[in-house]
Amino acid sequence: MKRHLAHLALLTLLAAGTHLHAQQPAAIKLNTPDKTRGANIMQALAQRQSQREFAARPLNHQDLSDLLWAANGINRPDGRRTAPTASNKQDIDLYAILPDAAYLYDAKEHTLQPIAAGDLRPLVAGAQKFALQAPLHLVMVSELSRFGNADDQRKRHWAALDAGIVSQNIALFCSGCGLATVPRTSMQTDKLKDALKLTPTQIPMLNNIVGYPKQTAPAATAATAPAQTGNFHNYTVRDINGNPFNLATLKGKKVLVVNVASKCGLTKQYTQLQALYKKYGPDQFAIIGFPANNFGNQEPGTDAEIKEFCATSYQVTFPMMSKISVKGDDIHPLYAWLTQAAANGKQDAPVTWNFQKFLIDENGDWSGMVPPRTPPDSEIITTWLETRTATKTKAGNQ
Ligand SMILES: Cc1cc2nc3c(=O)[nH]c(=O)nc-3n(C[C@H](O)[C@H](O)[C@H](O)COP(=O)(O)O)c2cc1C
Repeated sequence: MKRHLAHLALLTLLAAGTHLHAQQPAAIKLNTPDKTRGANIMQALAQRQSQREFAARPLNHQDLSDLLWAANGINRPDGRRTAPTASNKQDIDLYAILPDAAYLYDAKEHTLQPIAAGDLRPLVAGAQKFALQAPLHLVMVSELSRFGNADDQRKRHWAALDAGIVSQNIALFCSGCGLATVPRTSMQTDKLKDALKLTPTQIPMLNNIVGYPKQTAPAATAATAPAQTGNFHNYTVRDINGNPFNLATLKGKKVLVVNVASKCGLTKQYTQLQALYKKYGPDQFAIIGFPANNFGNQEPGTDAEIKEFCATSYQVTFPMMSKISVKGDDIHPLYAWLTQAAANGKQDAPVTWNFQKFLIDENGDWSGMVPPRTPPDSEIITTWLETRTATKTKAGNQ
């Protein structure tokens, strides 16, 4: 809820900004960074790529906050940052160019301080018009004077290296949290220097334009995210080892999809889930478990920790997937399909807690939702399992 309100506040602020060209915008106090989110580091690396197409929507407040902290936030009590700098001179200042105004990221206060009103993104975009689609342009500016008396060539060398590291922090955050970005040296440097009121020793080195990927739900954590379609079998997700898991491989089986958590009062449902899988699977029935930390911070661990927990505490043998979000702004595309009638063609069924069950039939059609507290071996599930669904031909149900 808090996140939702913050998002609304940011949207209002962005909308208001369009009417306030002449006025100095207010500082934006950023949310506390969520340091538990995102894909694991190997998945983030596996998915990193430059993206140049963006959805036409602003970043939500939590994504903006987390992104800035990941890029160049303070991660230790002594004031050092997520990105190293030569001799810890911390020469890189990060400017956030939003549609309403340009801001300087104040890492100490985790706040965006206003620098100039109006939309400066055209100065960052330069000739590359696709950049204007991205709701946020982050510009890495090196303050060369922080390097003291070294010669200019060495200072510029360090500045380039330092900017590159911040850029890679941005790229890994984006790939791990389902955002799109591309690093760019293209920009109208002189005009940007004027507009950002930079001194001669402050040099724009590099920028990353950031947004949500075009045609996918925001923040498709730890998954390849095809555009939504009407069928479960069209999705590819990631298993708990980080490998792609194509749901088309489950064609012809009934599937129970469940969002799991290791520290929940309902965690013991793993026992019944495993028993159900033993009895009805694996040829005609599959269970796939999605760890999710959406409820009560009850799934805080990494994929590796969750995998270990399931194997040792509950001897789980059904396929476990990589951790995702099952609700909110960063809902995984598969869960957007599972929970929205407009996508699944059947029913709105938001996830209310850990261990909510979704039933998918042999054709990949949405067939039911069973609430978290209803046990996996309840009659509603076993009766469904024992009723074979008619096979679909191209013309429809036989
Ligand atoms: C220093 C640097 C400058 C770049 N400048 C631009 C640029 O101005 N415009 C652009 O579209 N891409 C730019 N890129 C992105 C590269 O084209 C891209 O990283 C490269 O093609 C490899 O693709 P990948 O990032 O998907 O691996 C730049 C990348 C780097 C590292």
